[in-house]
This record gives sequence, C-alpha cells and structure tokens, in this order.
Amino acid sequence: MAQIELISVGKVYGKTRRGKAAENTVSDLTYVIESGHFVSLLGPSGCGKTTTLNMIAGLEDVSSGEILIDGRKVDDLEPDKRDLAFVFQDYALYPHMSVYENIAFGLRMRKVPKHEIETRVSDSASRLDIRSVLKSKPKQLSGGQCQRVALARAIARRPAVFLFDEPLSNLDALLRDQTRSELKLLHRELGATSVYVTHDQEEAMTLSDRIVVMSRGRLEQFGTPFEIYHEPATEFVASFVGKPRMNLFTALRTKNGRYTLPGTTFTVDLGEIGLDRVRVGFRPEECELRVVEPGTHGHGVVRSVEPLGNVSDVLITLGDQQFMVRVPGFGTCAPGDRVDIITTRARIHCFDPTTFLRISRGRVS
Ligand SMILES: Nc1ncnc2c1ncn2[C@@H]1O[C@H](COP(=O)(O)OP(=O)(O)OP(=O)(O)O)[C@@H](O)[C@H]1O
Ligand SMILES: [Mg+2]
Repeated sequence: MAQIELISVGKVYGKTRRGKAAENTVSDLTYVIESGHFVSLLGPSGCGKTTTLNMIAGLEDVSSGEILIDGRKVDDLEPDKRDLAFVFQDYALYPHMSVYENIAFGLRMRKVPKHEIETRVSDSASRLDIRSVLKSKPKQLSGGQCQRVALARAIARRPAVFLFDEPLSNLDALLRDQTRSELKLLHRELGATSVYVTHDQEEAMTLSDRIVVMSRGRLEQFGTPFEIYHEPATEFVASFVGKPRMNLFTALRTKNGRYTLPGTTFTVDLGEIGLDRVRVGFRPEECELRVVEPGTHGHGVVRSVEPLGNVSDVLITLGDQQFMVRVPGFGTCAPGDRVDIITTRARIHCFDPTTFLRISRGRVS
C-alpha cells in the first residue's frame, strides 16, 4: 500500500510556435490520496484526468509541482520503479499471446520465479473467473473477458497502487454494473491504493472513498462521495454530480430580504448572506410540487412528465428557466398544469455569482 501526495502539480504540453509557454493542461493540483483508499478522478472529457493519472504513473513528466509516493519524490523514478499497475480502457493485451502469457508476461520481465508466476496467474485468474480461457488468445474473447484479463494481469503484479483509466467504458451497461461491483469487492479484498479515472459520476460515487472533481485542468473539490453530493464546493460540482442535474438559477434579493426568481412567485429565505444576487440550486429529488388553480400567473407550467416506474421526472417552466422535479410514482400532474415548486431552506445550495464558490450558511432549519 502507498500514500500518494500531489503538491501544486501542473502540466503543460509543449510550447506554442512563437516559443511562448502553452496553456496549462492541468494546474495547481494539491491533494493526498491516503494509503489503501480508492480515489476517483471525475470530470468531463478533456479536463485532465488521464494527464494526471499518467503523471502519477510516470508516463508523463510533471511540469510544475511535485508528486510524492510514501513521502518520496518520484520525479526521477521510471514508471516500472514506482510499483504501480495500470489498467487501460482498451485493455492493452498482447494479441499474439495467450491469456496465461498476457498475465504472466510482466512477472517474467520482473524475474519472478516460475512456480511463483504459476501461483499468481492461477490465483488472479480464479478471482476474475477466467480460468477456463487461460489458453485462449484475446481475439477469441468478449470485451468483458478481455477487461477481466487486464484486471487479472494487474492483480498478479501485486502492486502497491492500481491505476485505472476508464476501465469499464467499453463494456455494455449490464456488464459495466456487474464489473463495477466486482471491482469494489476486489478492492476490499486487496486493499491496495487505487486511483480510478472516470467521467461517470455513478462509478465514482459507488466505488470511491474520496472523489477528486476536476474541470478544465483544475481541482474543483476533493471530498467523500457524501460531501461531493451534499456540500458541493462549487457550482460546477453541484451541476456535474447528481442525476437529473441540480436546478440552478440566479435569484435576486427582495425588499423583505428574501430571494426570488424574477417574474415568478418562487421566493426563498436564505438568511443573511449579504449579496443582492445569488446562484441558488436545489436537486430535482429535494422538492415537491403543488398544483395551483389554472390560469394563475407567476407559477410554473408543466411541460412534460417522464415516468420511470418508481419515480417520474417533471419538466417545468418557471419564469425564463426550466426546472426538473422528481416526483414519486407516476406523479399527479400533467402537461399544461400550473404548479408551485416547494423546497426548504435546508435543501438549498447557494453559490457566489462571481466566484461560483459555495456560500456556507452554517446549519439551517
Ligand atoms: N500528449 C499530449 N499533447 C498535447 N496535448 C495533450 C496531450 N495529451 C492530452 N492533451 C490535451 O490535454 C487536455 C486534457 O487531456 P486528458 O486526456 O488528460 O483529458 P481527460 O480528462 O482524460 O479526457 P477524456 O475523458 O476525454 O479521456 C486535452 O485538451 C488534450 O487535448
Ligand atoms: Mg482520459
């Protein structure tokens, strides 16, 4: 097991033609991945997840800042000296080798004794339920089996750290869910520090001890799944995590100190936050709907109702904004209905409209 520490880590790829430094791909990443933790790097495409993982692996140089593994600076340490195993999205298996050879290859290169290799291949193949295909070539296997071979190969190495780059994204939905559960179980059994790149918030939430949310090469939040969901540090985190997305809008302070969505009956008491304008957010599942008299103005209008079985997602227009509200069962409203959205102060998230940082309001009732 190993602790990984990032201190102000930045990466710039190359230079522009005029010799000026190119823009930072990632910058100022500072956080500690504790020994034995499963940590996900979560963010949209292009935000720098793979770049960060590659720097931890030593496949890319760090342009600024430093990375420590177990307190030791690793800048000069070649990838194969870092005691890490990588699992890629595209499996990266050797096509001409059998499954057995694929798993054993890295161990051979490290001069692990033959009988030890046999034990480790057999053990990791059992864990991933691929013993029956040990003699097959990768092209004879399904995508799911290939990914299991890639995982078995990583496990057989018995590294201090596992690095995963979107390992499940080539699998179909059912297999992805199943493999995700198995990964979680594997991590519990092996206990090795794991860094897991994904743009899938569900994967990040279900697997992780901590989540690193990134946007445009910057750290938005480092926290537990609970913190990321319930106390998003920035408006970006609030809108990126949670399905359906959090409703977000700009509210203005009224004379009586409440905040309102202009042109609507929606008002909320946020206490003293000292701003005339504030970004307000609440989750679709953290509010209720009340149908009001037809024809009354300033209320929301139901645009569509999408039943999902146990819940329905109701799309509402209120003022110039669209809102999503998740109601139980098949819901009791229909398109065209006038409705009020009811939520409480405690369920509302506030963000500074200039910095997009969370406004902490202490405990509210
Ligand atoms: N070798 C490279 N040279 C130049 N630019 C690169 C290189 N690798 C990545 N980039 C750029 O750096 C940015 C971040 O890329 P990165 O692959 O780290 O993103 P990512 O978060 O992993 O995205 P995805 O979810 O699509 O895999 C992108 O704008 C990408 O074009
Ligand atoms: Mg990537």
